[in-house]
Amino acid sequence: MLQNIDRIFEEAKQFKARTKEEIEQFRILYLGKKGILADLFRNFKELPVEQKKETGQKINQLKQFITEKIEALQTGLADDSDHRNSTDFTLPGPPVQTGARHPISIVRSEIISIFNRLGYTISEGPEIEDDWHVFSSLNFPPEHPARDMQDTFFIEKDPDILLRTHTSSVQVRVMEKEPLPIRTISPGRVFRNEAVSARAHCIFHQVEGLYIDENVSFADLKQTLLYFAQEMFGKEVEIRLRPSYFPFTEPSAEMDISCQICGGKGCNVCKYTGWLEILGCGMVDPNVLEFNHIDSYKYTGFAFGMGVERVAMLKYQVKDLRLYFENDIRFLEQFASAW
Ligand code: PHE
Repeated sequence: MLQNIDRIFEEAKQFKARTKEEIEQFRILYLGKKGILADLFRNFKELPVEQKKETGQKINQLKQFITEKIEALQTGLADDSDHRNSTDFTLPGPPVQTGARHPISIVRSEIISIFNRLGYTISEGPEIEDDWHVFSSLNFPPEHPARDMQDTFFIEKDPDILLRTHTSSVQVRVMEKEPLPIRTISPGRVFRNEAVSARAHCIFHQVEGLYIDENVSFADLKQTLLYFAQEMFGKEVEIRLRPSYFPFTEPSAEMDISCQICGGKGCNVCKYTGWLEILGCGMVDPNVLEFNHIDSYKYTGFAFGMGVERVAMLKYQVKDLRLYFENDIRFLEQFASAW
């Protein structure tokens, strides 16, 4: 048995490990429940008493040697991996993930900057509004069906407190306190009680514009909107004004731009009409001016309003409005190179 132990000793000394797994196998082989040492201890019990002392010492030495060897192997490996983890300055750096602005923010600032170049100021106002600023002062008579054109979220009744359905309310606030002439745009979030679909959302963003001065004409409105369309979509774009109805403008119109995808020839995006609707506009109704204490015999004005999501859909050819609200990183990343 003593010779046997010597042989095991020799074998254990020769052992070399390169991985954690190999060390573990080594440990199980020697120290495991059914391992070599367990075997030796079992045989040891059967030895005659006079051999026990010497053999016992040898087995214990072997056990100690193996335990220490395992520890040494483990720390050796750890040292090694430390070395591997230390910084290697010759490696290329990991790619830096840059963020992207949200497409709605991009388009919003583009619209704002176009109108800034025409001398428009920016005005902002509350999202929670009263009936006067959203409807009554804009020539929506009480109980008039035009109020249903914009399904409203009411917060309180009598007096009505509601979420603004358009940022025209901000322009009323400007008319109340700013001196004439007024040339302002009001970007902001608006709310409408509509089912969410690919074409509509209950929250969206608008930029509405108002220009009031002496001798402002429909021709000024048309030229302003043509300038806007060309700056936004390129010089080749054409515009078309269709008669429409809004309580606060007279005459009122809706503006279309020539379809950028088919160049006006007709495709499935423009539903084979060659045109895409983009905004509402018109000459400010004299009633609205008078409600806001502006002399409608001296002053005239025009107003327009557009949905930022709508402009962004046309600009980026996104067919489903909901994508702008879901904040799926795979969608947003595609705008990283836009300004
Ligand atoms: N306020 C209208 C809307 O939200 C848009 C508009 C603004 C139309 C100004 C005409 C003039 O639908």
